[in-house]
Amino acid sequence: MMQGTPLLLVLSLALGAYGISVEKCNLTGHWKNDLGSNMTITAVDEKGNFTGLYNTSVADNPSKILQSPLLGFQHLTNTNGQPTFGFTVNWTFSEATSVFTGQCFVDEYGKEVLKTMWLFRRHQNTIQDNWNGTVVGTNEFTRLEPQME
Ligand code: BTN
Repeated sequence: MMQGTPLLLVLSLALGAYGISVEKCNLTGHWKNDLGSNMTITAVDEKGNFTGLYNTSVADNPSKILQSPLLGFQHLTNTNGQPTFGFTVNWTFSEATSVFTGQCFVDEYGKEVLKTMWLFRRHQNTIQDNWNGTVVGTNEFTRLEPQME
């Protein structure tokens, strides 16, 4: 009955029943979030450091949006291939900074998803305005499939 059934598939199904994923989540590549923002993470190095580019779909001043660099770190030592990570986006078109922290998961369909939480810091002109400087939120990123020409 089991003849011809790939061993990995059987193993995946068995472990999946216990919520254990065989697939690994890899940060490298093109991602899109629930706001429509895109980011590209270039190769993660041997220490877990990575760089990338962020194209936000929303901004305080949307007419000024420009692609902005990001710098991050991920754990390499976790056992189930679903590492935590963090990155900072240095917005090139404003004086704001965003930090994201999250975990790279493989969901029940085998799809990679980045569950993140962020802090967005706007520049304030005075210390009295500090109360208005920070926004907190969440974003979920899924892998952007290659676009057909
Ligand atoms: C700015 O408005 O000065 C910079 C753009 C900030 C965009 C924020 S960062 C958190 C959230 N997630 C996104 O993809 N975009 C917004």
